[in-house]
Order: sequence, then structure tokens, then C-alpha cells
Amino acid sequence: MRDGQPNPVTRLADYQPPAFLVPDTRLDVDLRDGETRVTAHLKLERNPARADRPDELVLDGDHLDLRSVVLDGRELAPGDDYRLEGPRLIIPGVPEAFSLTTEVRIEPEKNTALEGLYRSNGMYCTQCEAEGFRRITFFPDRPDVLSRFTTTIHADKGAYPLLLSNGNPVDAGDEADGRHFATWEDPFPKPCYLFALVAGDLACLADTFTTASGRDVALRLYAEHRDLDKLDHAMDSLKRSMAWDEKVFGREYDLDIFQIVAVSHFNMGAMENKGLNIFNTSCVLAHPATTTDAGFERVESVVAHEYFHNWSGNRVTCRDWFQLSLKEGFTVFRDQEFSSDMNSRAVVRVENVDFLVNHQFPEDQGPMAHPVRPAEYQKIDNFYTLTVYEKGAEIVRMQSQLLGAEDFRRATDLYFERFDGQAVTCDDFVACMEQVSGLDLAQFKRWYAQAGTPVLTVEDEYVDGEYRLTFEQHTPPTPGQPDKAPLMVPVKLALLDGEGRALPLDDQGRKETVVILREARETRAFPVPARPTPSLLRGFSAPVSLRYDFDERQLNTLLAHDSDGFCRWDAAQRLYFAALARVVDGGETPADQVARLTPVIEQVIARADEDPAQAALLLTLPTENAVGDRHTPLHPQRVHAAVSGLRATLGEALADAWWRLAEGLRESDYQGDGAAMGRRRLRQVALGYLAAAAGAGQVDPEPLVAHLSDTLAAPTCMTEELGALRALVHNRLPGHDAALKAFGERWKDEPLVMDQWFGVQATVPGADTVDRAEALLAHPAFEWTLPNRVRAVIATLVNANPSAFHAPDGSGYRLFARALKKLDGINPQIAARLANGGARLKRLEPGLAQQLGDALRDLRPGASANLAEVLDRILD
Ligand code: ARG
Ligand code: ZN
Repeated sequence: MRDGQPNPVTRLADYQPPAFLVPDTRLDVDLRDGETRVTAHLKLERNPARADRPDELVLDGDHLDLRSVVLDGRELAPGDDYRLEGPRLIIPGVPEAFSLTTEVRIEPEKNTALEGLYRSNGMYCTQCEAEGFRRITFFPDRPDVLSRFTTTIHADKGAYPLLLSNGNPVDAGDEADGRHFATWEDPFPKPCYLFALVAGDLACLADTFTTASGRDVALRLYAEHRDLDKLDHAMDSLKRSMAWDEKVFGREYDLDIFQIVAVSHFNMGAMENKGLNIFNTSCVLAHPATTTDAGFERVESVVAHEYFHNWSGNRVTCRDWFQLSLKEGFTVFRDQEFSSDMNSRAVVRVENVDFLVNHQFPEDQGPMAHPVRPAEYQKIDNFYTLTVYEKGAEIVRMQSQLLGAEDFRRATDLYFERFDGQAVTCDDFVACMEQVSGLDLAQFKRWYAQAGTPVLTVEDEYVDGEYRLTFEQHTPPTPGQPDKAPLMVPVKLALLDGEGRALPLDDQGRKETVVILREARETRAFPVPARPTPSLLRGFSAPVSLRYDFDERQLNTLLAHDSDGFCRWDAAQRLYFAALARVVDGGETPADQVARLTPVIEQVIARADEDPAQAALLLTLPTENAVGDRHTPLHPQRVHAAVSGLRATLGEALADAWWRLAEGLRESDYQGDGAAMGRRRLRQVALGYLAAAAGAGQVDPEPLVAHLSDTLAAPTCMTEELGALRALVHNRLPGHDAALKAFGERWKDEPLVMDQWFGVQATVPGADTVDRAEALLAHPAFEWTLPNRVRAVIATLVNANPSAFHAPDGSGYRLFARALKKLDGINPQIAARLANGGARLKRLEPGLAQQLGDALRDLRPGASANLAEVLDRILD
């Protein structure tokens, strides 16, 4: 909404094939501080698929200073031969096939939006997805125009010894005035969103990978010189990803070289540019001294994700941006499967479900709800969402389950073979599933089109030796979609007897079955000897919100005996949610919950060495956001008091058990394997409970403070160091200020560790953290132009610290609004993403809703298109 004007809307229903194709693109990029020049030589031809034969060429551009246009060797005159309409270049009356050369000036040095070509710490780099290429040169900037790119880069040789682009290097040499050039050729036609360029002075970790068919691929990871020692884990992850994709999906790498560049300034996690991935440093650098175990896991999965895009995204790409989940949902599914094979499958599944349920479900139930394949958007950047990525992955997962492993592999083989080199749709993907399996997935496809989290209500009865389950599905209305049709919902289930053993469900003695629901209401009967405990939605077989009135005994049975990791975790969560509901709404105290919860927790602890990582998940209380989303209207302070009160009380009640875990799991030397990571994770959970009890004055803080200070004095790794710091600071234990100061001093030259340092402070519970956050924004190391730093302070405050963000005096909202306004002038994508933190507005109790609404409404005049779209949704 610029000056009150609504943004233009792009609709899926209006899709038309491109009027012109660009079989060949030669780019010449002359990098010079303050006067970078881009010359594009395009070969264009009319698209036979467009029956209406338009003869007007329309090219996208943005922030370009056009210097010349030459068509088939003739220089065109502005006004007569071409015109600029808004950001577009329009050339009427063009021939059937022709060549076009444009020259533009651009200013990467001033580009703080981090889209197109920009600078980060002295290097040049690019981010083109979704629509950033138009900031580099005039081009049909849409994913269904595939072109063969040849790129020549010129730059000062001293400052930028390294010049990279997509494909294979074909030429390089020196030029006058201490400059040099390099030419790269990408043999695979690609949409311009996969274009990339890097120029800088970078350190390189090199290795090789030999593909299944025996080709040697050079692997090169680049980072700033000081970070060369942080690239080993990414390299190892990359090689394992390459081998895994050959084995599991039959996909080999296709160029002679694969490169990753680490960049400090980056809007998202990473980008799959053909042969030249560009990564946020936070998703590629890893070293035990500076990176937590969670950071190591993230690097592994993001390296895999971007590598897997080479097939699911690059070789087969999207027809239009409405199909974004075609590549993102599928690739998230692929990286989740990779992580499952590299680590504990049960633990990875629970982590993925936890993330979906606690982050995507709220999105799908709030003002930003949209289908996995949206029908319209204002700014496509705003649709790189958890719905498109994570729910999209669940939709692929359901198809893999419906088909079974063998058919699913045959279907993906067919998909890659049939559509190689093409830009296609989600329908094309599902058609391959249908063709191979013979299944009719017409109803299933509603998952792509309908927004909202389906609610699946289950009721049961036991009559005459038969256990009857009645399933009722209902998807609530979402913006623009008042009525929903029933979905195809696969419900994997088992039935447990009184001892927690799975009962045979049919005459073949199978103990697990998948019920495939198609109707709004359906009943299934199982002949079993007595009323069982149902184990429902095993493995989280569909992304639905399950309502079944479990009693406490059933939950204890599931938690103690179920063989399904998700169902065990879900049972634990339900016990915690129930206890917290009794505190938030029921007038009970945290202490009232102890007698019911401690036997359950003790039992998990007793079995903890079977799988410490899983035990850690089972022992983790729901977040304040998760609890708050179950109470209407939302009273964040009441929820905070309940969750922190319960944590402290359980910390006190089970102090001996937590101490045994914390001491027993303490390591003398760092180990990097998964088992050691699981042990550290469980130890951190135990320390968290103890610290909460100490902070609340419910146990003597002294022994814990001594223990944490020991850890901080000689940490084995960053997981331990940061865990100890967080425990001290979040619970305001004696010495927390000194510890923060020492940590900040020790790590002042490591930006990614400093992000953690800022983040720990921004997540200290309590309304006074707003003042603290104000001070952090004024800290000399805070940078508005560095998205990681902005996220570390503002996004964590807004999204992960409800008791501060929702400070009763509205100060958190005012800080939020001021930050949004400031950021919107610097980087609209980041501002819009951050604005989503206001999405719970309508759920808040009226006093808070009023204050948040007032703060956000003030931002609407003059907001960027990105920010305006989000604000309009949140405010209605
Ligand atoms: N395709 C990237 C990925 O792997 C995401 C990049 C999107 N960037 C953006 N600014 N919208 O998920
Ligand atoms: Zn992706």
C-alpha cells in the first residue's frame, strides 16, 4: 500500500505462458565501486505456445539506470522505439526472433534490500529468488523462461581475486589497470532466479566427489579467511548428501564443479543457485567452539536441502511462483528424510512435527493462513512460509506413505525423467504419483488448495467385542475460504491393551493399520477383546489437529509403552498442556500438578539412557506460545506465570533426579557424534529445570551457580557454554551480568556467536526486557543492515519472549513498530517477515489488542508493498 494505494494482486487464474522465450543469455558484469555496469545480450524468440502472438516485448526491471538498448544491431531511441513504464522496459513491434543488448548501471553498494546484486563485508554477491534478477538487468523475470547463461565478470584483481558464477569456468585473464575477468558457462537452461555471481577475496576448502557413474566433481566451499576452520562440517554434509541422493532418489550431480559461498548479509537461510549455492553464514559455518549442536544439525540439513534442489527445483523447476511448494515442499521432505537417515529417525520426526505444530499450525490458524498452493499474492516474498515449506513437505510425505516406498520412488523417477529441463506444476507432480500407483488423488489435491489446519475429532465406543472409532473432520474457515470440503486423511493407528501391547487388528495379525478417511464423518470397527487405548495418527500420518478425549491413564500408557515416537511425545505434551490448563484457567497452582506429573517424569528419566535425545524431547514443557494458543482470549502474562511456575516447581520437586542427570551426563571431552549430542541435550533440559527452581528461589542457587560457573570457565563446546550462560541469565542467577560481560568480550570477533549473545538477552523473560532490548539496539555491535543481528534481537523478542513482547504497558509493541518502520526503509523483506510477529493480535485480550493494533496501524501509510501486505492481513 504505497500512499494508501492497494498493492497490485497476482492471480494463479491469470497465468499465461511467456510471450517471448530467451534461449540464450550473455551477461557482462563490470564491477566498479559506485559505477557497476551490466550488459546483457539476449537471444529472444516468440513463444509458439502463445496463440495470441503479442509483438510487444515486456521486460522486468527494478532500480536499473538504463543506458542503451540495441535490437539486432540497431540502437533504439527512447520514446520512439521503447518506453519505460514504471519499472518495465517495453519495446513494441519486435520481430519473430531477434537479439537484444541492454546496458544498465546499478548500485550494489547502496542495496540494503539484499535482493539482486549487493555487497556484504567487502564482497559482491547476489540473491535472485524470487524476483531479484530484475535488479541486475532487464529480463523476463519469471521461472518459466529458461535460458542458457554465459557470464563474464570484471573486477579489480587485488580486492576481488575470486570471480564466480554458475556452471563451469571457461575463461579467465588479466586486464588493464590491475583488473581481471572470468567467464562461466552454465550448460543447463535455467530460470533467472537461479542466477548467481560472487566476487571477493575468500578462503576455500576444496575436496572432490566421485559420482555413481564415475565422474569427478570438484567441491569448493568459500568463506572469509577467518572462517576457513569452520567449513569441515558443511563439506562432510555435502558429500553425504550427494551420496544419499544417488542412493535414495537415483539423482546424480551434473556439473564438473559444485560451490558454496558463505555470506554474512542474507535475508533467508540459503539459496540453491545452479552450481553456486549462496548461504547465510549461520547455515554453513560450524565449529564445536562456536556452534551449538542445534547449529550443526541446521548446517547439515540446509546443505542437504540446497544440494537436493539441484534436481527438485533446478533440473525440474516451477512454472510460476504459485507452484513454489512443488520445489520447496518436496525438497524439505527430501532433507527431512536425509536427516532421518543420518540421525535418529524417531527424534527427527518429533523435531519436525514439533516445528510444524508449534509454528505452521498457528500460521494456518491466523490472518496469514494461505493454501500450500496460494491462489493469489501481492508480494511473492511473503509466501516463503512455513505453510509452503513445512506443510508442503507433509503433503509430499502423505503421498509417499499412500504409495509405499517402492511406488513412490518409481513416481519420483518418472517425475524427474518426464519433466527434466521443464517448468511445471504441483498437478504434474501428483499426476506422476497417480500414474505409477493407479490411485485417484483428485480429492487428495485439496490439500494443496485449502488453507487451514483440519481438525480431526475422534470418538470411540466398545460394544459387543467391537471397538468403534468415529472420525469427524472439519477445516475451519480461513481468510477468503469460508467453506472447506473434506480431505483425504490417512490415519495410521494401533490399539494398545491394558499392558500397552499392540493388539492384532485383523486375521493376518497386523498390529498397525492406515485408515484413509474421505468423508466428513466415518466410522471404523475393530474386533478386539477389550476396550483398548487408541494410538492415533502414528508417525503424525497427516498434518491435522487431533481431538480425542484421552484420559490420564491412557496418556500414561502411551507414554510408557507406545512403540511410536510421535505418539509418546504427543502423550507427554497432552499431559503438560492439561496441567498448564488447570493452572491458567482452572485456578490450580503449579504445586497442585506435582503429584500427577512427577511419576510420569520419573519414569521417562529412568529410561533416559535408551535414547537421551528422545528423553529430552519428552521432558520439554510446551512453549508459552503453544500454551497461549490454546487459551482465548490470550493473556500472555498469565500463561508465562503458569509455564515458568510449573518449570520451577518441577525443578524443585525432582531436584535430585535433575542433578543426577546433569552430573551424570557431564562430558570431560568434546565428542561430536549423535549420541554425545543427545546426552548434551538431555543435560541442558535438566539444567533448565534446576535453574528455573533456583531463579524462583525454590532451591538454593549456590551449588548450581558454582556448577554453571565451572562450565563457563572451561566449556567443552558452545552447546555447553551457551547453555550455562542462558541458565544464569534467563533466571537472573547470581553472577549473570559478569558472565554475560565475559562471554561478550570473549566472542566479540565472532558475529554468529554474538548473535547468540544478543539473543540470550532478548529472551530473558519479563516485561523489563523491553528496556534491555532498547539498550541492545543501541549497542555498538548492533547493525540494522545485518538480518541475522536484527533477528537475534527483535525477532526473538517478538516471537520467543511473550512476557516481554506483550508487556502490559505496550512498550514491547512500540519497540516492535519502531523497528518495523526503520527496517522497512532498509530491507522490506525482513520488515514484512518480522511483522508476522503481530499475527496473534486478534487473539489478545482487548487491552493488549488495542495497543498492538494502534502501534501497527500507524505504520500503514508509506509502508513498502511487502510490509503493507502483511499489515493489511493482520489488521483486516
Ligand atoms: N529457495 C531458497 C530455499 O532453499 C529460499 C530463497 C528465497 N529467498 C527469498 N528472498 N525469497 O529455500
Ligand atoms: Zn528450498
